[in-house]
Amino acid sequence: MDRFFSQRARNVRRSVLRELLKFTQRPEIISFAGGTPDPGTFPWEELADIAAREIRANYARSLQYSTTEGDIGLRRELLEIARAEGIRADLEEIVITTASQQGLDLIAKTFLDPGDVVYVELPTYIGAIQAFRAMEAKLVGIHLEEDGMDLDALRGRIAADKARGERAKFIYVIPDFQNPAGVRWSEEKRLGLLDIAAEEDLLVVEDAPYRPLRFAGDPVPSLKALDREGRVIFLFTLSKILAPGLRIAALIGSREVVDKIVAMKQAADLCTPALTQALAREFLRRHDFEGHVEKIRACYREKRDRMLDALERYMPEGVRWTRPEGGLFLWVTLPEGVDTERMFPKALERKVAYVIGAPFFVDGTGRNTMRLSFAIATPEEIEEGIRRLAEVVKEELAALSTTAQI
Ligand SMILES: Cc1ncc(COP(=O)(O)O)c(C=O)c1O
Repeated sequence: MDRFFSQRARNVRRSVLRELLKFTQRPEIISFAGGTPDPGTFPWEELADIAAREIRANYARSLQYSTTEGDIGLRRELLEIARAEGIRADLEEIVITTASQQGLDLIAKTFLDPGDVVYVELPTYIGAIQAFRAMEAKLVGIHLEEDGMDLDALRGRIAADKARGERAKFIYVIPDFQNPAGVRWSEEKRLGLLDIAAEEDLLVVEDAPYRPLRFAGDPVPSLKALDREGRVIFLFTLSKILAPGLRIAALIGSREVVDKIVAMKQAADLCTPALTQALAREFLRRHDFEGHVEKIRACYREKRDRMLDALERYMPEGVRWTRPEGGLFLWVTLPEGVDTERMFPKALERKVAYVIGAPFFVDGTGRNTMRLSFAIATPEEIEEGIRRLAEVVKEELAALSTTAQI
């Protein structure tokens, strides 16, 4: 069969994580592995009422094809939310996508030729790595510090790539409560990144699924709100603040960019489903969206606090973790020499699961890291799960020090 596959298909691999996640779904396992939001945050009753009404009273529209650009009412609602964030855009500068993963895929298809360079954070979101690699891009990872990318390293790397005649297209970043590391970029670094993009004539792709989920710290403007040159393409999904099953997101960019993305989307799926667009539109119109998001923030704030507290109490010396001010994840770094993939089956034996860190690193490093999601487990499970995980880590460290002595 292999001979029939395109060069692209040969390069595409199923995500290691999705394979590992299959092991974590047994009910007795406390899982910090999934990247999914807490279903308790889905406004299912409101959505059920809207769905019944939209199908009964409005089926000629809600069960029909939509335009490729997306439902005009929904685009207006999302532009309103963006405006409150300081992002000024009009109807020609926004397209509804079948959630942000499609936005990433369309960006990859629109901008990347084989061998083109994309700069990403180290670590970064696996779905973006898959989308860009599928177009045979060359991904260059730049170390993520506590307040954003190491911009000196980025400058140095761009200069070196330029000297070698490499062609770079964009910098992909998740500046708010990053997946996987939970890091938020400072305003200074955001401005610095935009300066570099302007000097080097690069686009910036700002992926912001967790931006509304800020439960601590002061607000920092988005890159798109700071962008004066139309270089930033902004991806904004409803997956974490409404429901991922709707598959609704928006891509906001310059008219030229949106026009090309729309053409690319026509080939992909003609349009995002009219029905789920109608559900999102009516929810945004009829319900207190800000109040709804505030409830979600409170839910995750409590769980994050519980996880930080448990880590503090149970983890042994030498283990470090981030203290996210929003989002769903925190990031744990174990002492050098620990391999979280090798440790994974031992954690499963203790009935606790996490996500191994290495697949988030495009340079093959990060073997001693792991991502913990505080979204799904209950506060009590978080406490117990971290206790079990700390036992596993302690045993691993003890085994390592014995090997080192032999
Ligand atoms: C950084 C990032 N981008 C994009 C996505 C894709 O989200 P969706 O396709 O549900 O909008 C996710 C999902 O976890 C994510 O973490």
